Amino acid sequence: MILSVIAIAAAYLLGSVSFSVLFARLFKGIDIRNHGSGNAGATNTLRVLGKGPAILVLALDICKGILAVWLGRWLAPDYDWTPALAGLAAVIGHNWPLYFHFKGGKGIATTIGMLATLCFFPALWAGIIGILSIVLTRYVSLGSLLFVTLTPIFLVVYDLAGWRDFGIAVLTVSILIWALAVWRHRSNLVKLKNGTENKLGSKSGGKE
Ligand code: G3P
Repeated sequence: MILSVIAIAAAYLLGSVSFSVLFARLFKGIDIRNHGSGNAGATNTLRVLGKGPAILVLALDICKGILAVWLGRWLAPDYDWTPALAGLAAVIGHNWPLYFHFKGGKGIATTIGMLATLCFFPALWAGIIGILSIVLTRYVSLGSLLFVTLTPIFLVVYDLAGWRDFGIAVLTVSILIWALAVWRHRSNLVKLKNGTENKLGSKSGGKE
């Protein structure tokens, strides 16, 4: 039990390392949260800092999710809930980072890492559909929301079809992740509805 608590707390601290904030400070001496969409994530890093830093932020944020789940599995191998909750804690840390006044990102890259580690194939199919929607529409937020919505649906499909039961912990956490992502994307949803959402590659971010 104590090791589960340690894993979840450590995952939150790991998730709190906001690479987009750190890189923007390092490369440009600015606070990324005052530029572009104001979001501390890879999409806004692309707008504000360009492709190289954005790819690096995306990769590092994904790694936070992977490491958090691994940490949970390592410290509490007998508890299904620990890796799932550690992954969730990393996303919470990314969104509300301890070291950066609790003002972080929307958690999608970290979610990709943790869901791909917890339930690879459901996350993969959801991710492919999310990426296709980004390619077709150039709305990253739409692809992100499709990814988090479809992963729990694919989890249920896998279970009902008898292919694999990933367990109640993974399903519950994936639904919580969906709720968090919808909440963090509420301004994107309004802009998508109004047709004013920024497309991938556009420099203006429409600060929230
Ligand atoms: O993952 C974040 C993305 O879905 C939206 O980012 O900066 O366009 O609000 P942004």
